[in-house]
Amino acid sequence: MSEPLPLVVVSPEIPRPWCEALDERVEVRPLTDQPHDWDTRVVGILPILTTRVDGALLDRFPRARVVSNMAVGVDNIDLEACRARGVVVGNTPGVLTDATAEVAMMLTLAVARNLAVATLDAREGRWGPWHPTGWIGEGLTGRRFGVIGLGAIGAATAARARAFGCHIDYAGPRPRPAAAELQARHLPLDALLEEADIVSVHCPLTLETRHLVDSVALRRMKPDAILINTARGDVVDQAALLRALDEGWISGAGLDVTSPEPLPPTHPLFAHPRCLIAPHIGSATRQTRRAMAALACQNLLAGVEGAPLPHQV
Ligand code: DGY
Repeated sequence: MSEPLPLVVVSPEIPRPWCEALDERVEVRPLTDQPHDWDTRVVGILPILTTRVDGALLDRFPRARVVSNMAVGVDNIDLEACRARGVVVGNTPGVLTDATAEVAMMLTLAVARNLAVATLDAREGRWGPWHPTGWIGEGLTGRRFGVIGLGAIGAATAARARAFGCHIDYAGPRPRPAAAELQARHLPLDALLEEADIVSVHCPLTLETRHLVDSVALRRMKPDAILINTARGDVVDQAALLRALDEGWISGAGLDVTSPEPLPPTHPLFAHPRCLIAPHIGSATRQTRRAMAALACQNLLAGVEGAPLPHQV
């Protein structure tokens, strides 16, 4: 009789064909909140970013050797709890860099040029004859684009901003090699906030970066500056952002990430004419989401088979 395949649990939200690489090497069961008697046989876990992977979940799967997140961000995973149990953690960098940078630029252009209000006005009958002062926004050419966190996505966004004629500044713990090609200045965060016309957030969410963009940071920004966040909602203090928009500390915001997600439709930021909110679509292209799932499967298989993960956190 042949050996049973190793057992893994995979988020049932991921379309099954995206994980077909698993089929011959492991047995797949759905990762749900419901405990099962087979949990103790599970050797690998593949969650999505809405699954909280903490000590309690890991204790349900005491034989798990790997947690392979279908995301580049790992703020949903208690890394310390994994480390303490000898569980390796994988993520999916690279494959979502361009898609997320596109959304950062999309929000930048849309907020800078008033796209949401302009299209709504046109659709709802407020489009009169062309007028010299109609729906005036700000252009990008010659403006300073400040990146918080010049990792892969920050650098890809900066490259696009340069193509639109922006000058690039970045803040982060250390100088980054990508800066040379981007002719980017490395500034202390306070100086970046004071000088940038666009501030785009690209750092991971950690204990240190939670509410990094708070009321003090927002007050440092120029009144005609805009804030873009495609990283994690909790990097920005949303109550402070609402006040900053209401009181004119800054001129607009484009958010692909919020806290919580989903943001309730009654949240005042949705009603704010200078705030444009997308429902976490940074990586939402057909190619990217499939590539994220494929990479997460590779990490999972490597972890299950005791090999080095292609992308270990
Ligand atoms: C990630 O992978 O962390 C992204 O937020 C998914 O869009």
